Amino acid sequence: MDFELSGRHALVTGASSGLGLAIAQSLLAEGASVTLAARSAEKLQAAIAALPGDQRARCDMVAAEFGVSGAVEAMLAAATRQTGRVDILVANTGGPPPGLPSAIDPEEMAAQYGRMIDPVLRLTLALVPGMRARGWGRVLTVASSGVIQPIPHLPMSNALRASLVGFMKSLAGEVAADGVTVNVLAPGRIATARTAELDASAAAKTGKTVEEVARASAASIPAGRYGTPAEFGAVAAFLASAAAGYVTGSTIRIDGGAIRAI
Ligand SMILES: NC(=O)c1ccc[n+]([C@@H]2O[C@H](COP(=O)([O-])OP(=O)(O)OC[C@H]3O[C@@H](n4cnc5c(N)ncnc54)[C@H](OP(=O)(O)O)[C@@H]3O)[C@@H](O)[C@H]2O)c1
Repeated sequence: MDFELSGRHALVTGASSGLGLAIAQSLLAEGASVTLAARSAEKLQAAIAALPGDQRARCDMVAAEFGVSGAVEAMLAAATRQTGRVDILVANTGGPPPGLPSAIDPEEMAAQYGRMIDPVLRLTLALVPGMRARGWGRVLTVASSGVIQPIPHLPMSNALRASLVGFMKSLAGEVAADGVTVNVLAPGRIATARTAELDASAAAKTGKTVEEVARASAASIPAGRYGTPAEFGAVAAFLASAAAGYVTGSTIRIDGGAIRAI
């Protein structure tokens, strides 16, 4: 199937590693050009250097930190500098720290809103008008399985990301007739640095080894394993494709069956 992404330009945030990088790689493999954004210029440079040469030529990058003033503007400026437009926005951020719901620090929660939610809203609001005017656009937000089935030790993630799901669903209805689709990705457990960190944190709290935690976690997933970033990136590339033009307002699970609800 031709995803018809050749000539399309994407901005992918949180793209220096993990899920964001996997999405950028999938979009590049399908012929799109991509501006990769994250905090670390070194990590972005290394990620781009590892790509095949023809894909490297279709990459640009910007180092900026969500939660710091001017980051969204820097990303928008970089993303529009070559083509003058962004056809595909992949809004992906770092995740909040784990902890008990009863121990949430409201100050930390507000700071996480500034890193995880506010910049996603601002990027979306800045880029969607151009997509609508051109009659084609894709907005993909990386959330979590926790927006469907809350994860016990990630209350900030559950609560904050739910607000994005509500906003994106509302936006999807407003812009659907203009050729712009808006969908949310709900990863279960995909093997990235973030998952390894969370497993290490659970191991430290329970006295188990990281391997024991990861094994038990994998065993609780119907697929019996964590997903790979490439499996996640492939779903995102499909949702960005022309073929997915009638998929909008959805929260798509990439979870190996981990979410128990229908
Ligand atoms: N992996 C999973 O199974 C899973 C499941 C549910 C939810 N999620 C969520 O999905 C998102 C991506 O997960 P991941 O596993 O790919 O995590 P990851 O490997 O830690 O990647 C996070 C990305 O975001 C960037 N980033 C972090 N903080 C940033 C900030 N303040 N400003 C700009 N960029 C920032 C990081 O790059 P720099 O360090 O260079 O900034 C990196 O590129 C996270 O929010 C995570 O909580 C993941």
